[in-house]
Amino acid sequence: MRAVDPYPVGAATRPGPENGPERPAGPVDVGSPTAPPAAAAGLDRADAVRLAAEYGWPIYVADVGRLRSNIVRMYREFSRTLRDFEIGYSFKTNYLARFIQVARELGLTAEVVSELEFDYARDLGFSGTQILVNGPVKSGIFMQRALEQGARVNIDSVDELITLDELGRAGRSPVDVGLRVSYGFHGRSRFGIDLEDPDICRAVRQVLDAGHIRVAGAHVHTPGRRSPASFQLRLRCVAAAMERVGIVRPDYLDVGGGFMGTIPTDLAQQLAEPQASYQEYAEALGETMSGLFGEDQPRLIVEPGTGLLADTMTLYAPVTSVKRSAAGSTVAIVDASLHDIKPLRGTIDPSVRVLGRDATRGGTDLRTESVQLAGNTCMEIDVLHTGLETTGERIAAGDVLEFRNVGAYTVSLRPSFIAPTPAVLESPRRDEPARVLRPRGTSVDLGRAYGLRP
Ligand SMILES: Cc1ncc(COP(=O)(O)O)c(C=O)c1O
Repeated sequence: MRAVDPYPVGAATRPGPENGPERPAGPVDVGSPTAPPAAAAGLDRADAVRLAAEYGWPIYVADVGRLRSNIVRMYREFSRTLRDFEIGYSFKTNYLARFIQVARELGLTAEVVSELEFDYARDLGFSGTQILVNGPVKSGIFMQRALEQGARVNIDSVDELITLDELGRAGRSPVDVGLRVSYGFHGRSRFGIDLEDPDICRAVRQVLDAGHIRVAGAHVHTPGRRSPASFQLRLRCVAAAMERVGIVRPDYLDVGGGFMGTIPTDLAQQLAEPQASYQEYAEALGETMSGLFGEDQPRLIVEPGTGLLADTMTLYAPVTSVKRSAAGSTVAIVDASLHDIKPLRGTIDPSVRVLGRDATRGGTDLRTESVQLAGNTCMEIDVLHTGLETTGERIAAGDVLEFRNVGAYTVSLRPSFIAPTPAVLESPRRDEPARVLRPRGTSVDLGRAYGLRP
């Protein structure tokens, strides 16, 4: 006997319906709770199989309500401790238009790191003044365009500063910019300007002394640590950098991203640092801002990617076969790839749940404690999970797996490679048609991307 086949006859290999009907924009939900909502219930096996018949495997489910509540909770916590703050939506972390539109409705600004992202932000309705431009490569023409439209630009190098100085010489009033500082937890970062180096600091001051550029703020983004205390260090570092160029009270200090969101236990257990809440970040940052500036605080800018987005998406994918290697280990092949789940190839295994195993299914009984999950590409590196603990249960072809917390750096980094880019559906309910936030990729998309002319 076989469970519901995850590949029923007629299952979609082509995209389903295009985007569903537009919904009216919701108001800012100031009355929402400050506690994180209970984990979304997720799909059961039958629902996942039903949706896959229409949209193909694997399927992403996006929880827009979760994004809303994350944003509202972060606002509420930060407004308790900070006098003036701004939350920038880190575009590259997730390009879904629906997500970005919700973020914009709720008052987030756009944090972009390239001209492409700047133009996308404008297409999505952000005004220039609602855009914050970061990134290591910015042409003079682009910076000028962004500044003319009122965007704030954080300079990444002395060369960018010199380019702007030349532009500033042509204008009447000084150009306002921010300086990205090359602070890092494990040595200097290659991003930003190392103002602790006296020669570099002198070069920056020389450009500023010409009077064509005014430094409005400082920016830092550095991975490696996510604790609230690490944000206090970031903040002190940008404040100190401002003093090095003679600015005691900047307009803003931007401490970038790196916040934690709500993390399932199996993920949290693998992290080097304990989980931190928005409240703890708000308290730590508020305390340091008060200590540094008292009542007259500059604006604090944060650019959370992972911390707002990771728990907003889930991926459903079936096990297609199970093999035992000569070395005795068990490998389950899954119809999804590393690119769908952890394209940054970190060492942390994803959070996985096996949905509704079928106890009656025949086939070889590969009862095992630990199963490696491998992906649907023909790459040896395509390992989704190094050892899923099955507590003695059988894992078999036909099982459907749920990968949680895959909302950050997945859809935006997934290329059309071997298998189609998966459809993204908005939290579908059984009684409603699914709303497609992004259709599944097709060979037509592949042809368009690679120069096939009809
Ligand atoms: C400048 C900048 N801001 C924000 C982010 C978001 O970081 P995270 O996802 O760690 O919050 C990144 C990520 O690389 C970044 O480069």
